[in-house]
Amino acid sequence: MITDELTSKNGHLMIGGVDSVDLAKKYGTPLYVFDVSSIRDQIRKFKSAFENAGLHYQISYASKAFAVKAIYQVMKQEDVHIDVVSGGELQTALAAGFPSDKISFHGNNKTFEELVMAVQNHVGVIMLDNFHEIELLSRILKTDHEKINVMLRLTPGISAHTHKYDQTGQTDSKFGFDVESGQANKAMRLVLEDENMNLLGIHAHIGSQIFGTQGFVMLAQKMVAMAKDFQKEFNYWPEVLNLGGGFGISYTEDDDPITAQEFINQIADELKKNCEKVPEIWIEPGRSIVGPAGYTLYTIGSRKDIPDLTPYVAVDGGMGDNIRPALYQAKYESVVANKMDQPIVETAHIAGKYCESGDILIDQQALPATKSGDILAILDTGAYGYSMAMNYNRNPRPAVVFVENGHDKLVVKRETYQDLLSLDLDY
Ligand code: LLP
Repeated sequence: MITDELTSKNGHLMIGGVDSVDLAKKYGTPLYVFDVSSIRDQIRKFKSAFENAGLHYQISYASKAFAVKAIYQVMKQEDVHIDVVSGGELQTALAAGFPSDKISFHGNNKTFEELVMAVQNHVGVIMLDNFHEIELLSRILKTDHEKINVMLRLTPGISAHTHKYDQTGQTDSKFGFDVESGQANKAMRLVLEDENMNLLGIHAHIGSQIFGTQGFVMLAQKMVAMAKDFQKEFNYWPEVLNLGGGFGISYTEDDDPITAQEFINQIADELKKNCEKVPEIWIEPGRSIVGPAGYTLYTIGSRKDIPDLTPYVAVDGGMGDNIRPALYQAKYESVVANKMDQPIVETAHIAGKYCESGDILIDQQALPATKSGDILAILDTGAYGYSMAMNYNRNPRPAVVFVENGHDKLVVKRETYQDLLSLDLDY
């Protein structure tokens, strides 16, 4: 979101003490830039919120939001856990030197091979999502003579107020064991009876880009109620309650997210009111950790003016590096990075370069006078941008640069045409 905190020097947007226009020149565009100190700050805000609320806690970065070696290394430095949801994310984290015992392995259809990889690498916990997985894992543990921590992902029957594609807690969801119909109890029994599985606790995640505390407070109430039922039926009390992620961020001035402290205080009150022995609370933020830290730099190219209609200003990227506007009608704001001090003169559509009419990154953007060669910076693109990037129209994926305290470092190389061709074979 455009705020007073955006800093500029000589009319140029500064990111982490580095001139963004210099970054565009040095690395080319489109370019993802991450302000690493903003990532560290957000983690520290979550940590101090838990400490102030007097809860035992663990923060597990949901790495699907942005999963490259360098971010796993930052997470290691910040001493948090991470979530992975595929063999690919797991391999990347391990290649980055991330400690496997701090990894939670999620997913609604983990394959046999992925589960074997998780067991052989001794991940900290496997989040069991369905009966098929319980069966596969049980078999693997028996054969490999291994024991492992697990948690059960439960579907609590809560519909979060967010985009339909970002809801996961409602009963009609592909994720988790349904509580209503008794699946959760059945899963609990199976896991407790399996001597190779140590049931660390229960998990639920109600969705993503959620504003307000209501959904999370309801979730906390529901989790405690479920834990009490399990205690009655199985004499089992969870060591960990994992409340998932989903904390919304501000993409435009219409967004009004809750602070970490507000949300954690309310959860803490709810838990302390309702349980004698409050379990350790885990959360899994993805977007709120990396989203606001990310910027995408583009070079402005063509322009189309149509009488009486909003002009189109096109950039050298688009839906291939940020699918969110096309997929979720997500809104963003941008600035012209080399003209921060110039007056706004028009409103334009910011169009991408992909062959789709829906490839519009921003529908209505106030702009100063622009010309081809100017650098447009879209803000808050750190989450689900690079991680959902693709090669539609055979466009290579952009590079990623980290900046911190006035220094910049390339952490993912720009894909080349050679890279694009590397998997193709002749026929
Ligand atoms: N935990 C679980 C089990 C999840 O499924 C997710 C996100 C998270 C944590 C992290 O949620 P976050 O804090 O990032 O909101 N591609 C979509 C978002 C999909 C989220 C999937 N699960 C988007 O760009 O809006």
